Amino acid sequence: MPSSTLANPRTIKVGFLGFGTVGEGTHRMLSDNVDEIFRKTGAKINITSIGIKDASKARCLPSELFTTDLKSIVTDPKIDVVLELIGGEELAGEMVDLALDHGKHVVTANKELIAKQGSRLISKARKKNLDLHFEAAVGGGIPVVQALKHQLAGNDVIKLMGILNGTTNYILTRMEAEGANFADVLADAQKLGYAEADSTNDVDGFDTMYKIAILAAITFGKQVDLSDIHREGIRSIGTEDMHYAEVFGYRIKLLGICEEIEPDTLMVRVHPTMIPRTHQLAHVDDVFNAVWLKGDFVGDLMFSGRGAGGDPTASAVVGDLIDVCRNIVNEGDGSAIPYGEGMKSLPISELETRYYLRLEVQDCPGTLGQISTTLGRRKVGLTAMEMKSKVGGLGEIAFLTHVCREEDFVAAIEEVGNLDCVTKIESWMRVEQS
Ligand code: NDP
Ligand code: HSE
Repeated sequence: MPSSTLANPRTIKVGFLGFGTVGEGTHRMLSDNVDEIFRKTGAKINITSIGIKDASKARCLPSELFTTDLKSIVTDPKIDVVLELIGGEELAGEMVDLALDHGKHVVTANKELIAKQGSRLISKARKKNLDLHFEAAVGGGIPVVQALKHQLAGNDVIKLMGILNGTTNYILTRMEAEGANFADVLADAQKLGYAEADSTNDVDGFDTMYKIAILAAITFGKQVDLSDIHREGIRSIGTEDMHYAEVFGYRIKLLGICEEIEPDTLMVRVHPTMIPRTHQLAHVDDVFNAVWLKGDFVGDLMFSGRGAGGDPTASAVVGDLIDVCRNIVNEGDGSAIPYGEGMKSLPISELETRYYLRLEVQDCPGTLGQISTTLGRRKVGLTAMEMKSKVGGLGEIAFLTHVCREEDFVAAIEEVGNLDCVTKIESWMRVEQS
């Protein structure tokens, strides 16, 4: 017999850790949609306390709700569910551990924590019949984590690629549309509040790395060691690269990519990628995120939506909270789905793909021949080329290659860089086909 009926609803007590962008958004959604949530859970949600850092900040709620003593929340015997909305690994991890130790279900939006400690924390929750959900950790409001855990779980996923960071997608979209350079657009994104003052997490690909690690773990059932994931950000992309991507029929996106090479061995990577203009991911712009995958039965599938911001992220946190409430009300088992540890991820040197290469050269007879011969000796074949003369007897050449091994490509461009006719390797990038 369920513990709650409409005549006698169960009250579920919730403690918040954090009341910033996501915490405030989540609180607002729980207040605005209180009837909707009651209808769907048969439970009344009572927010009993909110943990914050700075007690002197002005808040939109009565001060009695707030405390800087986070431990008092995670150890409070009256609280059923803890929402961890602080971020970072250390304090958040300590609080999630304590909350589970004290029998509380946990919902978190924390990608760093789940990417690093997800396997251990989920197993711990499972052993205690508690829920630990983290939909908001990947793709903000996009419901992709639950979809991969449940509805898509019967598929053999052949490849998964995501635009998983709103800030970098906004920067790349504007660089392309306006011919603007990276530093100027980053400064604008910071003024608009899209990029944080310390933009490293976003711009250098850490945020995308955490998110693709989580998606890989759910999809393939084991946690990937973050140190095995190849990671590059978008700082080195120039307006010229945007121009040649357009000429060759591609767009440049920062992608998190994972694919299974053999059982228990993946290739997981984060880097700027040229993606054909015909691919669905090429049309995801501005701060939008998207996850595209190819499953053996479902085929090509893409989820897209707002990957950041208080409201979309609240949608994911509240969705997880509703799942927990239903479990409590119906006296079900915790529905955390565990994954193990020890997935291998191959080094990037073993990647086989196509590449884009842009060189500054001496604009004289024989230059092209020397370059193509040098690349060819390393089994790097060319499939497209654009050339133009610059001032001072120099020229610029951009190539696309056939599929080759990264190891060979890197060795080949080192040799090309040593040719007298090549004055500079301006840039190179990996090119995705599907
Ligand atoms: P904010 O910086 O806006 O808010 C963080 C909150 O945590 C604040 O209320 C802050 O307190 C509190 N906090 C921070 N450090 C401490 C501490 N040492 N002790 C007590 N409280 C502390 O972060 P967001 O809301 O943006 O992000 C929260 C989580 O959600 C992160 O894991 C983030 O990665 C994730 N996320 C964020 C998204 C977004 O769009 N912002 C999207 C998806 C996930 P105080 O208010 O006093 O400063
Ligand atoms: N900084 C992240 C982004 C927030 O730009 O996408 C969402 O995780």
